[in-house]
Amino acid sequence: MTLALKDVNTYYDKSHILQDVSFSIQEKEVVGLLGRNGVGKSTTLKSISGVVTPRSGSILYKGKELRGLKPHQVTKLGIGYVPEERRIFPNLTVQQNLLIGVQSRRARAQEEEAWTLERAYDLFPQLKARQSSKGGNLSGGEQQMLTIVRTLMGNPDLLLLDEPTEGLAPMLVEVVTGVIREIHGSGISILLVEQNFEVILELTSRTYVMSKGRVVFEGTSAQLADNHEVRKQYLEV
Ligand SMILES: Nc1ncnc2c1ncn2[C@@H]1O[C@H](COP(=O)(O)OP(=O)(O)O)[C@@H](O)[C@H]1O
Ligand SMILES: [Mg+2]
Repeated sequence: MTLALKDVNTYYDKSHILQDVSFSIQEKEVVGLLGRNGVGKSTTLKSISGVVTPRSGSILYKGKELRGLKPHQVTKLGIGYVPEERRIFPNLTVQQNLLIGVQSRRARAQEEEAWTLERAYDLFPQLKARQSSKGGNLSGGEQQMLTIVRTLMGNPDLLLLDEPTEGLAPMLVEVVTGVIREIHGSGISILLVEQNFEVILELTSRTYVMSKGRVVFEGTSAQLADNHEVRKQYLEV
């Protein structure tokens, strides 16, 4: 078990958002987290990454309690978080944006496994071609790739991705899907919040569906694909 949430309750002031949320991710798994707008998916990722602190429950990562840690401490433990809003630096080049990710990196026992600019450019040649371009001049898909790869430069073992294909044209959705597949192939576990069901089916082995701050379905992604009731009730608009 890499990550295990148990009865997590998160509030914004008096609003009780996450209600006894429990789920887990095994090593090297890609797990989907689904649900309509406003059900608490982003709050779940923020609770794991330390952006918000749950009021109760536990979040164990490789046996360590994350609840109460600050975001930079969670990063140091090996969790990379890519929020919904793309946070690139528009006036810095692609290369400079990536080097910022290197600054907060954690040490790897196996230095050959560490992400370097060369390794990132090998895997994502589209970024290499744009290395001297200003971040702000990239397309939406390239910016999304840049945020994801910058997070990789911190050498995470687990990546939290919040709607990486949101607002992208279909061709770019495929590009970003390919990027995520490559990242998984390099041995990283992924928790993927995603509204695009095809992307979920393509990338994840298991999924959890949320509604009103609770987990209402868990199963393999194939089971979810066949479960028209759950899809109709909790996913389709
Ligand atoms: N900073 C905040 N302060 C108060 N309420 C918030 C804040 N962020 C999100 N919420 C509320 O929490 C609920 C869950 O939001 P969120 O986790 O962003 O949902 P999702 O990612 O599933 O769309 C929503 O009702 C939203 O309005
Ligand atoms: Mg969200």
